[in-house]
Amino acid sequence: MSKPLVLVTRQIPDVGLDRLNEECHVILWEHDSVAPRDWVLEHIREAAGVVSLLTDVLDATVIASAPFLKVVSTMAVGFDNIDIEECSTRRIPVGHTPGVLTETTADFAFALLITVARKIVEGARYVKDGHWKTWSPTLLLGQDLHGATLGIVGYGRIGQAVARRAKGFGMRILACRSSAQAPTHGEDDDDVELVDLPTVLAESDFVSLHVPYTQATHHLIGKCELERMKGSAILVNTSRGAVIDSNALAAALSAGDIAAAALDVTDPEPIPLDHALFHEPQCLIVPHMASASIATRERMAVMAVENLLAGLQGTRVPFVVNPEVYR
Ligand code: DGY
Repeated sequence: MSKPLVLVTRQIPDVGLDRLNEECHVILWEHDSVAPRDWVLEHIREAAGVVSLLTDVLDATVIASAPFLKVVSTMAVGFDNIDIEECSTRRIPVGHTPGVLTETTADFAFALLITVARKIVEGARYVKDGHWKTWSPTLLLGQDLHGATLGIVGYGRIGQAVARRAKGFGMRILACRSSAQAPTHGEDDDDVELVDLPTVLAESDFVSLHVPYTQATHHLIGKCELERMKGSAILVNTSRGAVIDSNALAAALSAGDIAAAALDVTDPEPIPLDHALFHEPQCLIVPHMASASIATRERMAVMAVENLLAGLQGTRVPFVVNPEVYR
């Protein structure tokens, strides 16, 4: 029996790719860049499955040009780049990778928070630039995490993992859930005050975003929300860039409405070098790397491959975004 033809839009960790190669005829975009749309359109025509990344736009046109497609599997927990409705209409299950990146992403959100609150990047630059002459009682003073209030916007898996870290740091924790997030097991925690978004924004010293990107969370944090935050507040985003109105954030940082921001994700991505945010000294930007640990990326690859193989075999995709395809 011939192997099913599968499109893989970027080199994924070997542990996943090797498994795929055993079971499938793989067509791989071998470069470390986003697979061009034309290339995807050309090859998806014949494909029974696709392993994609969050940088691929799998819209209705792409899905419609794949008559043999049985499964889509994204190596990410977020799936806002895929037209799920179109897939569901075609009864194509879409797999994603929740859970395996929760702790790694929460670690990173916390790392960003500490980095900005304690001015670690500024300190490193100060030393490298040769300015360090003596200990100073007033040099690079930052904000304490202990005793401060952390606001968590989006209290799903990752938001809860961030809360667990905040607890260890002796913080007061406020959280609000996005309407897209179903309550998850373990959410009841006496140390976390579940409140509404305006309260989170007004009362928190630090705000960390953990909502999925949907129509409802598009620009969830805009001008009004930023104005509601404390002037000393730090905003951390490891969710999706467009959850924040980037222009409003740049304006708020420039006006001193909030103290600083740490962004793992931007809108657009990558952030253009001439974007106002890029020039805000109080804005730390890193290249969408919150889940980038060796072990987690390997787990994500394996999970994406297992989702794909299940879909190809016609069994239920273990981590399916659109379970309606099975009804
Ligand atoms: C995801 O999985 O959606 C992250 O943004 C990348 O790991």
